[in-house]
Amino acid sequence: MAACVSNLSLFILSLLIVYFVPVQSGGGFSAQLIHRDSPRSPFHNSSETHSQRLTNAFLRSINRLSYFNTSRLELQSDVFSDGNIGEYIMNISIGTPPVEILGIADTGSDLIWTQCKPCAHCYKQDAPLFDPKSSSTYEPLSCLSTECKALNATINGTFCPPKAGDSTCLYTYTYGSGFTKGDLATETVTLTSVSGEQIAFPKTIIGCGRNNSGGFDKREFGIIGLGGGVVSLVSQLGSSIDGKFSYCLVPISDVPYYSSKIYFGANAIVSGYGVVSTPLVKKNPDTFYLLTLLAISVDDVIIQFKGSSFGTTEGNIIIDSGTTVTMLPKYFYLELESAIASKIQAKRVHDPDKVFGLCYKFNSNFKVPKIVVRFAFASVKLDPLNTFIMITKHVGCFTFLPTDDGFAIYGNLNQMNFWIGYDTVKRTVSFKPTDCTMH
Ligand SMILES: *[C@@H]1O[C@H](CO)[C@@H](O)[C@H](O)[C@H]1NC(C)=O
Ligand SMILES: *[C@@H]1O[C@H](CO)[C@@H](O)[C@H](O)[C@H]1NC(C)=O
Ligand SMILES: *[C@@H]1O[C@H](CO)[C@@H](O)[C@H](O)[C@H]1NC(C)=O
Ligand SMILES: *[C@@H]1O[C@H](CO)[C@@H](O)[C@H](O)[C@H]1NC(C)=O
Ligand SMILES: *[C@@H]1O[C@H](CO)[C@@H](O)[C@H](O)[C@H]1NC(C)=O
Ligand SMILES: *[C@@H]1O[C@H](CO)[C@@H](O)[C@H](O)[C@H]1NC(C)=O
Repeated sequence: MAACVSNLSLFILSLLIVYFVPVQSGGGFSAQLIHRDSPRSPFHNSSETHSQRLTNAFLRSINRLSYFNTSRLELQSDVFSDGNIGEYIMNISIGTPPVEILGIADTGSDLIWTQCKPCAHCYKQDAPLFDPKSSSTYEPLSCLSTECKALNATINGTFCPPKAGDSTCLYTYTYGSGFTKGDLATETVTLTSVSGEQIAFPKTIIGCGRNNSGGFDKREFGIIGLGGGVVSLVSQLGSSIDGKFSYCLVPISDVPYYSSKIYFGANAIVSGYGVVSTPLVKKNPDTFYLLTLLAISVDDVIIQFKGSSFGTTEGNIIIDSGTTVTMLPKYFYLELESAIASKIQAKRVHDPDKVFGLCYKFNSNFKVPKIVVRFAFASVKLDPLNTFIMITKHVGCFTFLPTDDGFAIYGNLNQMNFWIGYDTVKRTVSFKPTDCTMH
């Protein structure tokens, strides 16, 4: 069914803030996600124009590609690209008494870390650094601990000096041109509700960063990893959330008026009419959420996906909330682009910012064809708001981009108005078309 894109705004979902809101029943809880450019966000920059925000978000998506570079990931299980560490920030508390931290929430990395006092070399942070000395529950992990040894096997970069005895287990993560180094510790992580209710998760493994540099913003306290690896928040909440989380991202045009939501535990189960599920594929590193893309269809034309640099068949595309646009290997993108171009009658124009390949002069005749993403066992029909974005008042562009290195990333524009559930126990990702403003 064709539809027009007139209700698209220039807003882009790029960086969201998470406020935790516990849900009473079933041990689950939920949190609000607030767009970085929403007036409610501390990241809101009122002097930026809409088109600047768009350009910035797209540049972040492109830069984030190096994060998914498997040739580097073979060497380091947690590699962040410089300054492009996810597109969400998350409001949680650590320590006793709890201290609020505003970290980047990242489905593409695992460790939870914040800048700590005293700091040998920290990037500039507006808020005070976390001081382990003022927390009664902060406990450094010893080099002799099973955790330190176990993490050494999964996180490359954990280290202890020779004959370290029970000295503190240290970590180093390298990313792009930067890094974070510090102490591994266990600490109480508290998720706070809007109503003031708090849920404490004691003995959560965190990194206390004492030498951090890279493309961090002074408003960010560190990173909260939501990936699939053992030290992520999702994995550490583990059985208390039954390995489940889900989110519902509001369309970009609704971002100034509505919050998006993330759910954990029992209330994260995506169910009901229209749910489709596809297997979550395990690969090394286990940080990334990999799905299997079979084809994309454009009206009656089916374009077979012959794989990406992540894999030819199973686990060939990463689903990521921290990437804005969907990236596909060039060979496939070009076929898809020409299939879509052949269905659209409107006048084709160049993207003034030279980011997108397929743009049209918008008028009332502009009709988007039916685009269906065919994952294994799950066909997801995209809405025009997922596939075309107005980059100026008169120009609408296809929100997919080609990659030279054969990477395939399913970005957040394609995820809007779907309730998307991750079940790390059953190992599935489910999609349900949903009006996320009502959710
Ligand atoms: C806000 O945006 C303006 C215009 O792009 C830019 O010059 C300024 O540095 C930004 N401010 C912050 C705090 O990022
Ligand atoms: C991926 O890594 C390879 C080898 O280090 C490098 O040549 C290539 O440019 C990288 N690609 C991206 C997108 O960072
Ligand atoms: C860990 O990183 C080093 C380089 O920093 C590399 O030589 C080594 O192969 C890596 N080990 C694993 C298990 O990935
Ligand atoms: C921080 O780590 C870097 C990289 O390993 C190192 O060169 C530098 O000396 C460290 N700085 C401090 C103050 O420890
Ligand atoms: C971590 O692993 C390396 C080899 O991968 C080993 O040399 C080192 O002793 C280990 N450290 C700890 C604390 O187990
Ligand atoms: C974090 O969340 C709490 C409760 O939801 C709220 O009171 C507080 O203002 C938030 N902090 C920031 C920095 O947004």
